[in-house]
Amino acid sequence: MKSVYFLCIAAMFLGISSAEDAWDGTEDPEDWPKTFPECGGKKQSPITILQAKSEDWTPTDRKNKKFEMKFDGYDKEASVEAYNTGYLANITFKNSSSEKPRITLTQNGETVEYYLTNIDFHWESEHGFYGRRSDFETQMWHRNLDKNRVIALAYLINECSDSEEEEELNMYQELVVAQDIVEYGNSYSYTEVPKTFMPRNYQCGYFMYEGSFTTPPCTEGVTWFVYRKTLCLSEIVINAFKTMQNKNGKRIESNNRPFQENDPELVYLSCNEDPEDDEDDDDER
Ligand SMILES: *[C@@H]1O[C@H](CO)[C@@H](O)[C@H](O)[C@H]1NC(C)=O
Ligand SMILES: *[C@@H]1O[C@H](CO)[C@@H](O)[C@H](O)[C@H]1NC(C)=O
Repeated sequence: MKSVYFLCIAAMFLGISSAEDAWDGTEDPEDWPKTFPECGGKKQSPITILQAKSEDWTPTDRKNKKFEMKFDGYDKEASVEAYNTGYLANITFKNSSSEKPRITLTQNGETVEYYLTNIDFHWESEHGFYGRRSDFETQMWHRNLDKNRVIALAYLINECSDSEEEEELNMYQELVVAQDIVEYGNSYSYTEVPKTFMPRNYQCGYFMYEGSFTTPPCTEGVTWFVYRKTLCLSEIVINAFKTMQNKNGKRIESNNRPFQENDPELVYLSCNEDPEDDEDDDDER
C-alpha cells in the first residue's frame, strides 16, 4: 500500500492526471476503496445475476417503451492493439470514430451513439449467474465521449466440452496475441473483426443493469448488458491468457473482481415474445 501511496504522490508531482495512474493491478480488490473511494460505492460491478428477479422486456414491450438498440459495423475489419496492462489484456480499437463499430441506443426519448473503444478479458468471469462464475469473460466497452457515457457488453465463457449444444468462439488469433503480450507493458497490433468475440445472435438475449467499471477507479454510471447465453472457448486459448504476467513478472492467475453488494433493477431483453422460447433457440444451435 505504501508504494501505491508513493506513486500517487509522484504522479501528482509529475502532473500525471490522477491516482488512477498508480493502480497497477497487483493490489487486493478489498483494498481498492482505500485509494479509490468510488470502489466502495453502492452501484458497483460485477454482480451475480438472479434470473428470477428480472423483469422481461419482449420485442413488443421494447417497441411500446420506444427502447431500441441497434448494432452497426461489428462484421467489418478493424485495426486494433492488444496491450498487457499488468492486470488484464486490453484490446484498443484504433479506427476513427466514424469507422468504429457502434451501438445506437434509443431510450427515454433520446438517441445516443456509443463507439466500441476497447475489449478486455477476465479469468475467471466477473459476472455470474445464481452465484456461479464461468471460466472467462469478455467485456466490450463502448463510449460516447461528448456525453461522457459508457456501456459494456459482457459474455460469459466456459472451456468447451464435447457437447454439441455449445456455441464456440473462434478466437485462435488471440492465442498468438496472448503469447506476444506475456510481459507487462507488451503490445501487439493487428486487425480483427469484432464479431469474433460475440455470439451469433448478439441483437438480443441479455440482461441490462446499472453498475460500474470493475477496475479502479470503479467509476459508476456504466450500463451493462450481460448475455444470458454462455459461450465456449478452447482451453488452449484460455490457457494462453493465463500465462500473462503482472508488473512483478508473476503470472496473473485470475483478474476478476469479487461480486459486489449491488441489488440493481435487472431487465431481460428477450429475443422472443415468450422469453422462455429463448432457451429453445439456444438448444437448436
Ligand atoms: C480500420 O483501419 C484499418 C487500417 O487502417 C482499415 O484497413 C479498415 O478498413 C478500417 N475499418 C473500417 C471499418 O473502416
Ligand atoms: C483499455 O483501453 C482503453 C482505451 O484505450 C482505456 O480507456 C481503458 O482504461 C483500458 N482499460 C484498462 C482496464 O486498462
